[in-house]
Amino acid sequence: MPDLITHTKQDENRQGETYAPFVNDPVAYGKKFYIESYGCAMNFSDSEIVASILNESGFGATRNYEEADLILINTCSIREKAEQTVRKRLSDLRTVKEEKPGALIGVLGCMAERLKSKLLEEEKLVDLVVGPDAYRTLPGLIEEAAEGQKAVNVLLSREETYADIAPIRLNSNGINAFVSIMRGCNNMCSFCVVPFTRGRERSRDADSIVKECQDLFNQGYREVTLLGQNVDSYYWSSGINGEHIVTFAELLERVALVNPLLRVRFSTSHPKDINDDVLYTIAKYENICKYIHLPVQSGSTRILQLMNRTYTREWYMAKVDRIMKIIPDCSISADIIAGFCTETEEDHQDTLSIMEYSKYDYAYMFFYSERPGTLAARRYKDDIPEDLKKRRLEEIINMQRKLSHESNMKDLGKTVKVLIEGDSKKSANDWMGRTSQYKVVVFPKGGHALNKGDYAMVTVTECTGGTLIGHIVE
Ligand code: SAH
Ligand code: SF4
Ligand code: F3S
Repeated sequence: MPDLITHTKQDENRQGETYAPFVNDPVAYGKKFYIESYGCAMNFSDSEIVASILNESGFGATRNYEEADLILINTCSIREKAEQTVRKRLSDLRTVKEEKPGALIGVLGCMAERLKSKLLEEEKLVDLVVGPDAYRTLPGLIEEAAEGQKAVNVLLSREETYADIAPIRLNSNGINAFVSIMRGCNNMCSFCVVPFTRGRERSRDADSIVKECQDLFNQGYREVTLLGQNVDSYYWSSGINGEHIVTFAELLERVALVNPLLRVRFSTSHPKDINDDVLYTIAKYENICKYIHLPVQSGSTRILQLMNRTYTREWYMAKVDRIMKIIPDCSISADIIAGFCTETEEDHQDTLSIMEYSKYDYAYMFFYSERPGTLAARRYKDDIPEDLKKRRLEEIINMQRKLSHESNMKDLGKTVKVLIEGDSKKSANDWMGRTSQYKVVVFPKGGHALNKGDYAMVTVTECTGGTLIGHIVE
């Protein structure tokens, strides 16, 4: 059983242990680099910053690692399996190094940060180890590595946001783009490695964010996803005495005002930080998507306390009520961990019942994986046997299947506004797009003169698996 559940192929880009080769004109550059990204959207977004830094220093991208002078793996440490996937990938690259000894191999991202120079001892073929806040130093590190030294920079920063770097969009469909608005995390969820691999929280200059969104719109993009580990704690002050404060609600509003045709999404919210200001802003603007990812992790107050999530079951349920009151058509999704330390059958039942209460449209479900150095690893025993973790995870997955199906059934007969993202996977005669609630809709192109990036009003007639099927309203 996988420890990661995805609902659609597209969702893999959010939290999949997937990789993303891409094309970008390598002819104009003397040297070629290849990059693969694993983990969350932040990592995919960081790879686009890395691509920009490398372009500046004369490297063009290739989608074929065999012809690359520099192979980079942007890694994830969130669960043990994520690290195993990367290790396996590194061992696949051994043959490349044998055939092209001059090629350099670099590990970026969270595994680089977690393991630091230890990674060089463990993985002999790695030449470079670069943490998430050190990408500006890549050109110098590449030179050092090319001279035969092992190059490492894993310094975390309190300021770095790469605000001035224009990302090179990788693997893009030209419609949806990630825009990083903050980095790091100041929460200390006891299970989580992110505060150790990403450092302290810091927000990016609001003006540079709005400008990036405006530029994307001008280039034809129609949806931006504002990214951060905890976007609701976004906070930017400007002016001589820091008198202009921009909160997340205000930033959201400024981005929504870029153009009514630009859809705005954001990820991820911590339940404790998403406030009424944010909810009213979502309700106010049609182009801010009615979709909130609100990770619950567990439905048991006792487990939530051990996880250091700082809310109780009742508090979370009240937050769900508040969202539905202010934004009645909002869809909600969650992250859930099965089998955290000391979890009893009763705690597990609490998770199943909070799922039913919240009526999640989607969920990303995992079983607990102990991460070295975290609070939980130091304080609690990882005492739930693997088969029990898996059984509970399976029950959680089955519950979510039921909830997703019920949610889709409710859409039958409705007419929804769909942003067209491209051809459907199965047929070039059909479009695929998404609703504001993030649901995938497939419908025949018919005789309508529509293009990727256009909006269509579609009546939903059936649903198969996670996909709604419909037809354009005449
Ligand atoms: N900052 C985001 C989450 C980032 S990690 C947030 O707080 O919402 C994405 C998800 O991975 C988490 O929400 C959690 O459900 C899961 N996760 C994190 N650490 C884990 C671990 N040690 N074992 C299993 N799942 C984990
Ligand atoms: Fe990890 Fe918690 Fe921070 Fe999310 S909020 S990144 S789960 S520590
Ligand atoms: Fe993984 Fe790092 Fe993201 S651990 S989930 S890539 S912040």
